Amino acid sequence: MTLFESAVRPVLFRLGGGDAESAHEFTLNRLARLGGPARSMLHARYATKAPVELFGVKFPNPVGLAAGMDKNGVALPAWPALGFGFVEVGTVTAHAQPGNDKPRLFRLRDSEAIINRMGFNNAGAAALAARLASLGPLGVPLGISLGKSKITPLDEAVHDYLTSYELLHPYADYIAVNVSSPNTPGLRTLQDRGAIAGLLGALVGKTPVLVKIAPDLAETAIAEVLEVCLEFGAAGVIATNTTLARDGLAPADQNRAAEAGGLSGRPLTERARKIVHFVHTETDGKLPIIGVGGVMSADDASRLFDAGASLVQLYSGFIYKGPALVRAAARASRAGRS
Ligand SMILES: Cc1cc2nc3c(=O)[nH]c(=O)nc-3n(C[C@H](O)[C@H](O)[C@H](O)COP(=O)(O)O)c2cc1C
Repeated sequence: MTLFESAVRPVLFRLGGGDAESAHEFTLNRLARLGGPARSMLHARYATKAPVELFGVKFPNPVGLAAGMDKNGVALPAWPALGFGFVEVGTVTAHAQPGNDKPRLFRLRDSEAIINRMGFNNAGAAALAARLASLGPLGVPLGISLGKSKITPLDEAVHDYLTSYELLHPYADYIAVNVSSPNTPGLRTLQDRGAIAGLLGALVGKTPVLVKIAPDLAETAIAEVLEVCLEFGAAGVIATNTTLARDGLAPADQNRAAEAGGLSGRPLTERARKIVHFVHTETDGKLPIIGVGGVMSADDASRLFDAGASLVQLYSGFIYKGPALVRAAARASRAGRS
């Protein structure tokens, strides 16, 4: 057991009477306030050099922070200090929005899982652009995840994404088009061939654009998304977002199975790996893949790299295992092993 698991996690998990969102807010605030010396100390302990170059971007190591953890980029300088080789902020939307009613974030401890139905709570694309303009360089590549505002009808989605894109692409090393959150009504229909073609047609050009897909898509539907990605020059695919399935929950967490939202963490490991493998084989390795979903150990990371991911991201694994997992996963990458 690491120090994080034995000493830090129990304190964080008890905050706010065990309310997961309180713990999240508290931790983000603390990370946002870390000073230079504290960041240097963490960096010396956790940062791993395992360089990778992908779609023209140089990554110091291939383990990134997944979207949703720091939606508004409030704690940006902390993430490279915790060992992350890149950071994906967002998902942000063209309009600031509060997200769904609370509670909307649940830890399923025995399953090492999370269910969330946050619903893209965020300060909006313009606020993120202002924040990024005021920050110096991050030192690691920055991805920015874009979603559709709740108030924007689905048939005006392209304009909504484009508004955010125009504000934010100057700050991004890549743009993630999130069409796979289960928590915005209708969003996942933007994974249909025509819709994704419309989005990519409008967005591909100045900055590498990657498409984030759901783990609940059938292989035929994924194959269609991949065709459109290749046709429109997407830089890659991020696989996967959270799942609507409820397989793999521990008995103690069965009472949470009916909570609406997306499930992440250990129950997603196998499914995410299968999808990464499918994307890799279906495209003959031509489309770079960021693998994400249920990376809870260095071994899970290795297997995701072996399945075809060039980069991986962590969310739930970081909540349960802390920064030691970032370091272990980076060391487990091909670049980290050689
Ligand atoms: C609380 C929470 C919020 C999330 N918010 C977003 C988001 O805004 N955009 C996005 O693309 N993915 C979001 N995700 C999905 C993660 O980026 C990731 O794809 C998913 O959790 C699977 O990885 P994991 O098993 O390592 O958590 C969120 C996940 C969680 C748990």
